[in-house]
Amino acid sequence: MIAVTGATGQLGQKVMNQLLTTVPAEQLVALVRSPDKAADLAGRGVDVRKADYDQPDTLTSALAGVDRLLLISGSEIGQRTRQHQAVIDAAKAQGVELLVYTSILSADKSPLKLAEEHRQTEAALKASGVPHVILRNGWYTENYTMGLAGSLEQGAMAGAAGEGVFNAATRQDYAEAAVAVLTREDNTSGTVYELAGTEGFTLAQFAQLGSELSGKPLTYQNMPEADFAGLLAQVGLPAEFAAILADSEAGAADGWLASESKDLETLIGRPSTPLKTAIQDALN
Ligand SMILES: NC(=O)c1ccc[n+]([C@@H]2O[C@H](COP(=O)([O-])OP(=O)(O)OC[C@H]3O[C@@H](n4cnc5c(N)ncnc54)[C@H](OP(=O)(O)O)[C@@H]3O)[C@@H](O)[C@H]2O)c1
Repeated sequence: MIAVTGATGQLGQKVMNQLLTTVPAEQLVALVRSPDKAADLAGRGVDVRKADYDQPDTLTSALAGVDRLLLISGSEIGQRTRQHQAVIDAAKAQGVELLVYTSILSADKSPLKLAEEHRQTEAALKASGVPHVILRNGWYTENYTMGLAGSLEQGAMAGAAGEGVFNAATRQDYAEAAVAVLTREDNTSGTVYELAGTEGFTLAQFAQLGSELSGKPLTYQNMPEADFAGLLAQVGLPAEFAAILADSEAGAADGWLASESKDLETLIGRPSTPLKTAIQDALN
């Protein structure tokens, strides 16, 4: 039995779809905080169970009979170490044989503020004694393609990543990597995969390709971290989240979202989705 947390999230849905291509639905469990959002999965024969990170009782009962678990990191920044610990405790109580966790690239050394909770979760997993594998996911290409239409209207995209390279990959690439690990028989506990896109790009290169493929002008405007955080807050992001995103871009400028690791393409058996394809998909 394979279970996936956050199964109604953007990455979780892709993982479930990918699992359903190779694993019978009756061996799959979707762990969700709102079962009503998972009607589609239930209709396809997946066992949908309520599992709220903030309600540890739901986690223990939801993990009954589960052999392998994908813990997709939560989205509530600042709450995640405690929430992930609750999932690890429940997995231990239920004798889960393998817990696969989605962390962040270079989590052990990364200065990004976002890396802290991942580092703490990795330490909690190690301390728990639950057999585990860590997927240190790089940046999603969608972090940039989702804003492309708006940027093209403005003719400009702003950021604070300077000449920093992003070895980003799509959620579909990371979903396939997670499924490869969840379905293989030869996992070794403690294995860490650094998952990075095959092809790296700077934000200026992203803007140039976006311009070429759309036929519209688009330039990249770099700004100091604090100014970029201010801009994000001005367009409606909560100030704390804006500061975290700006911090990540500043970290990228220093190379913390770049990696030459080939773990992703090895796991998925192909290069990660080319940036050109991801941009074309977004434009369509
Ligand atoms: N690599 C990157 O560039 C990048 C970017 C953004 C985020 N991330 C990380 O990757 C994770 C997955 O990405 P995503 O795009 O799939 O994010 P997402 O669409 O926001 O999905 C997050 C999932 O976590 C679930 N969740 C949040 N709080 C929960 C709680 N208290 N109990 C149970 N489930 C809870 C959500 O449930 P609902 O479906 O009910 O909302 C959702 O399914 C994120 O949560 C974040 O940790 C990575």
